[in-house]
Amino acid sequence: MNLILFGLLTLPVTLAVSTGTTQLNNGSINMTISLPTTTTMRWEITTADTNWVAIGFGTSMTNVDMITIQNEGTWTVEDRYSTGHSLPPADTTNNVNNFAVSMSGSTNTYTFERALNTGDSQDFTVSDELSNQFCSKTMDAGCINMIYGYGNGANFAKHSVGAYGQFNFTIKAATRDVFIGEDSTVKVDTEQTLVHGLLNYIAWGWLSFLLIVTGRYSKYFYSFRTMLHGLVGILALVFTLVAVLGYGKGGRTRASLNSMGDEHKSISGVVSIWAAITVIFGMIMKIFGVFFGRFSFVSYYLWYAHVIVGSLLIVYSQFAILSGLFLYDSPITFLYYIHLTLMVLMLIICEVLWQLNQQWKYTAISEFEKKGLPEMTIEEVQNSKRKLAIFDQYVIDFGKYQYDHPGGKYVLEECAGKEIGKYFYGAYSLDDNIKTHKHSFVAGKILKKIAIAKLKSPEDTQKMVTSRFDDINGIEDRSNELYTGNFRVKQKDELFKGVYRVTFKNDTKGYKVIVPGISSFGRHYLIHSEDQKVSRYYTICNVMNSEIYPVYINAIDKILGNQTEGEVTLDNVEEISQNLQLVIKFYDQSKKGLTRLLANVQDRDEFIISKPLGKGLDLRPEAISGTNVLFLGGTGVLPFLDLFAYLARMVIRDNSPSDSLIRNEEFDECFKDSKFIVYGYYPTQGEAVALDFLMKLSDLFSHFQKQPQFSFTPVFTRQGGEHLTSNSLYSLLDPISSTSTLRTIWVCGPPKMNNLFQRIHRNILSRYEDSAVEIM
Ligand SMILES: *[C@@H]1O[C@H](CO)[C@@H](O)[C@H](O)[C@H]1NC(C)=O
Ligand SMILES: *[C@@H]1O[C@H](CO)[C@@H](O)[C@H](O)[C@H]1NC(C)=O
Ligand SMILES: *[C@@H]1O[C@H](CO)[C@@H](O)[C@H](O)[C@H]1NC(C)=O
Repeated sequence: MNLILFGLLTLPVTLAVSTGTTQLNNGSINMTISLPTTTTMRWEITTADTNWVAIGFGTSMTNVDMITIQNEGTWTVEDRYSTGHSLPPADTTNNVNNFAVSMSGSTNTYTFERALNTGDSQDFTVSDELSNQFCSKTMDAGCINMIYGYGNGANFAKHSVGAYGQFNFTIKAATRDVFIGEDSTVKVDTEQTLVHGLLNYIAWGWLSFLLIVTGRYSKYFYSFRTMLHGLVGILALVFTLVAVLGYGKGGRTRASLNSMGDEHKSISGVVSIWAAITVIFGMIMKIFGVFFGRFSFVSYYLWYAHVIVGSLLIVYSQFAILSGLFLYDSPITFLYYIHLTLMVLMLIICEVLWQLNQQWKYTAISEFEKKGLPEMTIEEVQNSKRKLAIFDQYVIDFGKYQYDHPGGKYVLEECAGKEIGKYFYGAYSLDDNIKTHKHSFVAGKILKKIAIAKLKSPEDTQKMVTSRFDDINGIEDRSNELYTGNFRVKQKDELFKGVYRVTFKNDTKGYKVIVPGISSFGRHYLIHSEDQKVSRYYTICNVMNSEIYPVYINAIDKILGNQTEGEVTLDNVEEISQNLQLVIKFYDQSKKGLTRLLANVQDRDEFIISKPLGKGLDLRPEAISGTNVLFLGGTGVLPFLDLFAYLARMVIRDNSPSDSLIRNEEFDECFKDSKFIVYGYYPTQGEAVALDFLMKLSDLFSHFQKQPQFSFTPVFTRQGGEHLTSNSLYSLLDPISSTSTLRTIWVCGPPKMNNLFQRIHRNILSRYEDSAVEIM
């Protein structure tokens, strides 16, 4: 009876004690947890005898209490504490005991015990605040989340990829019950994960590479690469969106090995938005470049934004991809490292090749010559329906390129029929809002590609450069020479504040300084420094020659009665000079440009100088008959001085033939019907280039003519002179147009001045019938 009673009393108690058992890693590790007393717990772990095992009290490997079992000669159990993704060090006090190993075939069962609360700060305290059987998300107050790792080999080491997992359990200490959850390790939707990963890999591993290549390294194939770049950019965005929205539910419940993996969602979450912003910047940039005319310069700044935002995204997306691979502890992560290494190597190679070829070398102009282009006259260029511009001595058809020019379509449209060299070489910018841009070698190759003809230059111009040994009567045809040789600076004289006459010399060449006719007007030489890789145009201005200038001044003085010296004539001046003299403005702010080089020129510095280039001034009768008004700023007077001198010689021949400067000179009669009203804008009188000459010319014409054919009005803007505005311009032009036919308005000044005319160009044309605006 007693025995039965005892049995009845104790049996329910014994039955009530439950023990938790679970299979981990699909049965390769079996685990049983029980409470031998109300304050201790026992673990039984069965696994292959070649495995080490570690369990941790937590959801990650960071800052968790751990227990490891390994074979150090004999099997040992150790109390440890993991601080991160490295081998956890042993606790100061070992609180794991009663370790036993039982071997059965090729499996071992390890048993050990531990107090629920060891009192050690490095140990996790197991408690039982939960009454329900299993841990669940809503009842995790007493749920104990566990992490485990295992590996093949005697000594415990860093576990290999994927060889770890999670489970959880609950206890009720008073009744010594244990409830253990299932292994919650891998719950990955493989298809979602693979498609998600593949789409992103294509987008950010390959399309991004293509974006860099089409964005930076293949500008030569302009239209094609712009189109491709846009398409690829959009495709990358689409791939990302599909990957995120359509295949973003790969799932994952356990912590990953690399803590960056756990952050995959937050790291990669911004990529789609970021990609969308980059694409939008790129589109707005293109739209501004093509449609917004004068404001197309905005696209220039948007370009920077697009490039910076895009490049950063490409770098960032690599981390997003890696974090994704980490999240799934992907065994192919190393392949992505290889991919990245190759990608970076390829980009380095591209960049090196690009850098090597980046500088435009003037000598590459000989490549244009090799195209064997047909000749075209300036009239043919002007009458052509195609969109043509002049570069050095070549005719460029930019019609098909205009949408691809990084500076926008407007910039090229403004250049139709004009010379683009000064912009190309970075000496000048079309708009005050745009910085000058020294164009690259690739830009030069594009120019070569779209060059359609060689500009025919007048015979007189072709003969302006002579070999010093040529018989003057039998000058060789040098029309095929691109440049005339290497020059050194012989002398520099400051003529006006900041403006110098620079004398160049070489051993074999001579320069015609007295050129009959009008062919050299407005043309220029190109000076190039191979050392600095800079090229600049300098206007031909023979009047400013050191021997010729005083002849004009004296001749006019004599005619005006200011001085009564003997014969003054250009016939006494050598027609061919051994020196090439050019008037050059030195810009203080220029640090590296050619003028800086010329300012600090050394004896050994060499320059390449071209033959006379350019389209010259348009002096066809239909362009100049009537009244022409010229707005010239600073050195902008230089391209016109030889023309003015020509007009002066004409008025002298007509009114005082005995004072003629060139014997038997013939003049184009069309100039008789043309009037030139010149406004010269200078900051101050001291900086006024050729002021003396221009004032004297003005006096000369009023001396001979009641209605002078030429007049000059200087304006000193920093000394009280009125700045040119559209209103002041109309008030100058209205009275002229009411008394005569306003023909061409010539503008040659700094960008600000030219911009004014670019803006109101159309208004002028509609306000003054038959007029033309020529902005140089
Ligand atoms: C788990 O083990 C069973 C039986 O050994 C096997 O059929 C199954 O493929 C395994 N599952 C995984 C995911 O390894
Ligand atoms: C774990 O338990 C299952 C089911 O009893 C068994 O098939 C498996 O072999 C066990 N694993 C080990 C390592 O003993
Ligand atoms: C504990 O594991 C079970 C699976 O056995 C799971 O359903 C539950 O969500 C887990 N609880 C917590 C809090 O992780």
